[in-house]
Amino acid sequence: MRLSGWLIWAISWLVCSVLADAYTAPHTSDELGRALASLGVEIRGQLPVPQASCPAACALLSTVRKNIVSTSGSQTYAQQQGRYWSLQQLETLPACRVTPQIAIDVAITLLVTQFFQCPFAVKSGGHAAFAGASNIQGGITIDLSSLTQVEVSKDRTVTKVGAGNRWLDVYSKLDPLGLSVVGGRVADIGVGGLTLGGGVSFFSGRYGWALDGVKNYQLVLANGQIRDINQNSDPDLYFALRGGGNNFGIVTRFDMETFPQGLMWGGSTIHPPNTNVSICKAFENFANNASQNPDAALITAYAYSQGSYIFSNNYGYALPTPFPPAFNEFTSIPNITDTQRITTLSNLAVELNASNPGGFREHYTTATFKNSAALQLRILDIFIQEVETIKDAADILPALVMQPITIPTIRLFRKNGGNALGIAEADGPLILMNLAILWSSTADDDRIIAAAARVISRSQQVAREMGLGYRYIYQNYASLSQDVFRGYGEENRQRLLAISRKYDPDQVFRSLQPGYFKLDGVNGGSLS
Ligand SMILES: Cc1cc2nc3c(=O)[nH]c(=O)nc-3n(C[C@H](O)[C@H](O)[C@H](O)COP(=O)(O)OP(=O)(O)OC[C@H]3O[C@@H](n4cnc5c(N)ncnc54)[C@H](O)[C@@H]3O)c2cc1C
Ligand SMILES: *[C@@H]1O[C@H](CO)[C@@H](O)[C@H](O)[C@H]1NC(C)=O
Ligand SMILES: *[C@@H]1O[C@H](CO)[C@@H](O)[C@H](O)[C@H]1NC(C)=O
Ligand SMILES: *[C@@H]1O[C@H](CO)[C@@H](O)[C@H](O)[C@H]1NC(C)=O
Ligand SMILES: *[C@@H]1O[C@H](CO)[C@@H](O)[C@H](O)[C@H]1NC(C)=O
Repeated sequence: MRLSGWLIWAISWLVCSVLADAYTAPHTSDELGRALASLGVEIRGQLPVPQASCPAACALLSTVRKNIVSTSGSQTYAQQQGRYWSLQQLETLPACRVTPQIAIDVAITLLVTQFFQCPFAVKSGGHAAFAGASNIQGGITIDLSSLTQVEVSKDRTVTKVGAGNRWLDVYSKLDPLGLSVVGGRVADIGVGGLTLGGGVSFFSGRYGWALDGVKNYQLVLANGQIRDINQNSDPDLYFALRGGGNNFGIVTRFDMETFPQGLMWGGSTIHPPNTNVSICKAFENFANNASQNPDAALITAYAYSQGSYIFSNNYGYALPTPFPPAFNEFTSIPNITDTQRITTLSNLAVELNASNPGGFREHYTTATFKNSAALQLRILDIFIQEVETIKDAADILPALVMQPITIPTIRLFRKNGGNALGIAEADGPLILMNLAILWSSTADDDRIIAAAARVISRSQQVAREMGLGYRYIYQNYASLSQDVFRGYGEENRQRLLAISRKYDPDQVFRSLQPGYFKLDGVNGGSLS
């Protein structure tokens, strides 16, 4: 049974490959029937009538693939709807949720959504903040949560990671083997979104961002083909997947470069607000000195919480070395608490998870600057001024999070032919800024989102005046209105557009998947 399934799949794959150039979306019943038959699926009974209807798409999917479709009122639907980080995404209600068990289920779903012109969204870990990023009102949400393979190659150099994993699932399998991959730092984040947009990691000084460590993608194209995409097979599409977000296909598996990794040093310190000058200066030095410290990673956050401002630093060091010299300048700054210790990556990921609770309204926005303590102090001042205008909102927790993009990391962006982010060594070191705000009442949405936008525009203005501005907009931290791909530089954006037209001639991932960041800057979703 299983073998014949695979045979049908292999033959249909060959046929599809030959026909690939002639592909157009299935519009007539016969075309859909043939396309599905080529995936080994026979429609029993009458062929469906073409119509623009999501309920009809859901109904057909549930007849051709039992048990992968859930609708409102079912336990699966409710449970999956609960697995979004922000309330905005959680409150978005699709006509049905499809939970592929294997890549071919993704292919079938893509063909059916095209036939019924039903808009869809794709969800991995569900941590994108704004509504519509990985869920879709009235459409079909393809929930990758069953794709949970984590399989290390015999020679221990590559791990096949299913696109529905969360990072803790990956780390808790690799930690006991003394191995790791470049991934996120917070337990609950999805492998899919983080890796397609970038992926800042504790190990970025040695290995680059998560996308730099992907050797091969198993990708489902708009025409239903399931393909391995790598530097040898399709260098153009391989380039595009390393930063292109959801614009090129649905990734079902990431094959990740794997390296030996034992215990680490890491944890967080919390500091009073009068440490502002010392922290900014230590950050600037840390970023400038990065080539001496490839094993060290730093996250600095300025936050307002329950009536006061507090600052925190989070440290990661890839070796089990207590108080490594890389962080010396921070150790001399007075702290309120300190959790630094020798521990596992999984343990650090769980610690950081606790400081990012779900179940609130969330807003993320971002900007990038040249490295400068003087600029960081000016931006901190702007942040505080704007927080003062919104700090009465219920449960509000605004955090201004700064991370260095160091020169050793940027150098690694050239790995495997280079990624799509458009950041050159000569541009670094950079400060990657993420303004993250959580709150609880919809009544506060508009003024909070407006204040966040002012922090970004005022900071960019000051940076320009100081000659420290930079164009890059990090996709994984960006707000709906930010033009992520223009931030990659116009040459890279044009290159991505051309690759998209080649592999998705009908622009299915543009027109039928409206949510999240688009190459033309016309992004889809809603902040509130
Ligand atoms: C608490 C928290 C901690 C974070 N920590 C880090 C960190 O350490 N480093 C870092 O770089 N970023 C970090 N981020 C940012 C994070 O990378 C983004 O939020 C990212 O989008 C999350 O990925 P996800 O799979 O959970 O999100 P999702 O919302 O599921 O996906 C985000 C987007 O990617 C698309 N997508 C996801 N999977 C696929 C796929 N397989 N194929 C095609 N499209 C897909 C979705 O359609 C959606 O548009 C953090 C975010 C939060 C909220
Ligand atoms: C640093 O913070 C103090 C308050 O703790 C403030 O008075 C001072 O202006 C800040 N310094 C700068 C350079 O922003
Ligand atoms: C950075 O390097 C300078 C000069 O080598 C040194 O004085 C300083 O202590 C270093 N700081 C950090 C944080 O490594
Ligand atoms: C935090 O403070 C404690 C006690 O003063 C000190 O031992 C520790 O080194 C400090 N850590 C950092 C990173 O500042
Ligand atoms: C991480 O945080 C989320 C949101 O608060 C929670 O649902 C999840 O259980 C946490 N996971 C771990 C491993 O701590």
